Amino acid sequence: MVLWINLICFSLFFFSIQAQAALHSRSTSIVDLLSSSPNFFRLIRHLQQENFIPYLNRNKGLTLFAPVNEAFRRDTIDPVWPYHILNTTDLNRTVFATEFKAADGRPIALKVTHREESNNPYDLVNDVYIIKPNWRADSGVVQVVDQLLRLPPTSLEILSSESEYSIFYRLSSAWVSEYESTTLFVPTTDVFVNTFTSTQLSYFYSFYATEDVKTLFNQHSVIHERVYADDVVEPKNFTLRNGPIITLQYDKPKKILYFNDTPSYNFDIVTRNGAIHVLPALLNPEVITFTPAKYLIGLGATWFSEKISKEREYIAVDTSSHRGIFAPTNWAFRESSDIDYHIMENFYMPDVNKYYLSRTNAKSHDEHSALIRVATDTAGALYVNFDSHSIDKETIGNVSLFVLEKDIEPPRPLLSQLILLDEISMSIRYLASLGLGEDPNSTWFLVENDAWAELGLLRKALEHNLEMMQNVLLEYIFQGIHYFGSTEDSWTSGNYTTLSGRSIMVESTNENNDILKINGLSYNVKTRDMLVQEGVVHILDRLVVPFAIPQRDMIIAGGRKEFLSLLEKQGLLDMLEQGFSVVVPPLSDSDIKSKDFSFADRHIIDTGKQSFIIHDSLLSVDNGPWVHIEESGFSSCGNVFFVRSPIPTKRDASWRTFAISLLGFLTAAVFTNSGYKSYKIYQQKLWAAEREPLLVPARRSSSIHRSGSPAHSV
Ligand SMILES: *[C@@H]1O[C@H](CO)[C@@H](O)[C@H](O)[C@H]1NC(C)=O
Ligand SMILES: *[C@@H]1O[C@H](CO)[C@@H](O)[C@H](O)[C@H]1NC(C)=O
Ligand SMILES: *[C@@H]1O[C@H](CO)[C@@H](O)[C@H](O)[C@H]1NC(C)=O
Ligand SMILES: *[C@@H]1O[C@H](CO)[C@@H](O)[C@H](O)[C@H]1NC(C)=O
Ligand SMILES: *[C@@H]1O[C@H](CO)[C@@H](O)[C@H](O)[C@H]1NC(C)=O
Ligand SMILES: *[C@@H]1O[C@H](CO)[C@@H](O)[C@H](O)[C@H]1NC(C)=O
Repeated sequence: MVLWINLICFSLFFFSIQAQAALHSRSTSIVDLLSSSPNFFRLIRHLQQENFIPYLNRNKGLTLFAPVNEAFRRDTIDPVWPYHILNTTDLNRTVFATEFKAADGRPIALKVTHREESNNPYDLVNDVYIIKPNWRADSGVVQVVDQLLRLPPTSLEILSSESEYSIFYRLSSAWVSEYESTTLFVPTTDVFVNTFTSTQLSYFYSFYATEDVKTLFNQHSVIHERVYADDVVEPKNFTLRNGPIITLQYDKPKKILYFNDTPSYNFDIVTRNGAIHVLPALLNPEVITFTPAKYLIGLGATWFSEKISKEREYIAVDTSSHRGIFAPTNWAFRESSDIDYHIMENFYMPDVNKYYLSRTNAKSHDEHSALIRVATDTAGALYVNFDSHSIDKETIGNVSLFVLEKDIEPPRPLLSQLILLDEISMSIRYLASLGLGEDPNSTWFLVENDAWAELGLLRKALEHNLEMMQNVLLEYIFQGIHYFGSTEDSWTSGNYTTLSGRSIMVESTNENNDILKINGLSYNVKTRDMLVQEGVVHILDRLVVPFAIPQRDMIIAGGRKEFLSLLEKQGLLDMLEQGFSVVVPPLSDSDIKSKDFSFADRHIIDTGKQSFIIHDSLLSVDNGPWVHIEESGFSSCGNVFFVRSPIPTKRDASWRTFAISLLGFLTAAVFTNSGYKSYKIYQQKLWAAEREPLLVPARRSSSIHRSGSPAHSV
């Protein structure tokens, strides 16, 4: 508002001056015009001081942007007078070369813009208002402005100030200020984001990309020239720095600047260095060739990328082969690792929750191609050899790239390869203590800790007697390396020789690849094809002790020798190993003296004559109260149950029933009730179980459910 009032005042004022000037003089110069008004005495003083008056008097056909006195009060900048002068009086363009020249002799421009709501053809020069246009002297024209004209910002200042230009700025800042005069064709941030993937952009940001970024920059700049739309009303060709020619044409009526065929609606941004024209597309982005090595840099595996470029040049650039490259991220990178073990030809992505074994380009210790196991999980991550999984991936052409959180290496000896796998730590410990992990050219079937735990007292007996333990393990190690190969492959049925030389029949079932029949017993294979230097390891869901473990051994290994002493004292030792179930309570030395024959006899159960019910971790004899089972061991010599307290006599039982709390009573009642109902079923189960030579604890799940970490489920 203030501005318009200003404008009106000035107009009235100048109108009166103009009339006077016309009266007094026949041929007026620009300086005459300025002198005739009291509004320019500061300007005139400045022009005098800087010796500009003779220049203005001498030259004809100039335009002077003349700041009024007030402009000097407001402005503290040093005026640059040549920047206020144009060598033309025709304001028929938008951008004009001023008389102020850059160091290379090319003029710095100003921009005159027309405001929509005004009838004047031009209202602003740069960001300064023209408050009185076209004040004509005979030698030129004065455009009165309310402020001094400032030089435009440098290209770099403009690029850095707008988020729209941020990517171009980030990529080109090193070169933009290298040339005195440049015309920049600036693709917006959106254009970069839509043209390049984030991997490609990350690559550009790295210092490895210097050459490519320079190529890109050269593609978007014309150096030593200041090109504005009005210069290319007739189409004009420009040679870009790195060769290609671009045709610029300005459609003046429609105000569209064309780059070849690409239209730009935001152009003629005047900078101190020249011009910025904003582009809605990249010019020839295909000048940049991406390679697997460049992508790896973009993915953050720069050190691996350097190594592959140095040691396997062809692979670093080839995109045509169906190849997988597994690159450790920088913090996992080890200079010494075998680069060929990270490269696999004929790679394809395994299906979700599937795996396969394949050769890598590396040689194993016996000069064969070292194998690698690749698997995927539901999230799409690639698991390599259980050791490592991908944290990022990309494809370029036919090449698949994976960034691994941990480095990978050809399979190491079994013990060191598997020592860190918590799930099978017990098996590994037993192999290590028996020296059974070192036979070359072997296949191991191992079990997880859970399976050992399920053996209960049997495991304790085996741990107590390493010779027995060795005999068990030897049944599960075969001569020769026998892979499954992939999720789709089943085991080759046939007779296999164990390390101890026994021939064992292993069959694959038709309906489920994961079930193996070994010596007639079914096993669920939980994990297949774990590669180790000596061969391969498969994980089974259970372990069956292939011979009967004496009850005596279980009782000793479980730490309840006192019970044996009691049996000995009462002459009952020969009841052991007869197939009777033995219930072993904790006893003290004094118990051995005080407990009688019937006490000892009560704990040896003849299931043919007595009812013996097991429900979860409770047992009951002859319908007596439930007794808590702490541990058990199942053997064809007879089962052993370690209980928390002795089996009560009938009298004990009634007394205890009376004494227990209400809650305990109800619990017992529920158990007893259900116990009676299912008595027959349990008994039958138990008998059926006893008929099997080697019994399996009740907790074993019969479903083929695969769980655990993704690596382990495939
Ligand atoms: C203005 O331009 C003309 C030709 O276009 C030239 O002869 C003259 O020297 C120029 N004047 C100044 C002051 O640059
Ligand atoms: C602008 O004016 C100049 C000087 O009168 C003239 O040479 C030029 O052709 C004009 N340009 C246009 C686009 O009208
Ligand atoms: C610009 O270059 C193209 C070929 O790149 C050519 O066909 C055209 O004639 C040239 N135009 C001008 C104005 O030189
Ligand atoms: C990828 O491989 C196929 C053949 O399997 C080939 O036809 C195609 O050209 C390859 N792609 C690239 C980018 O090399
Ligand atoms: C590995 O064991 C298998 C089966 O015992 C045998 O046929 C093969 O020759 C052995 N290979 C090596 C390299 O020892
Ligand atoms: C494995 O050996 C058994 C005898 O020990 C034989 O009956 C069976 O046919 C053999 N199986 C194969 C596949 O050779």
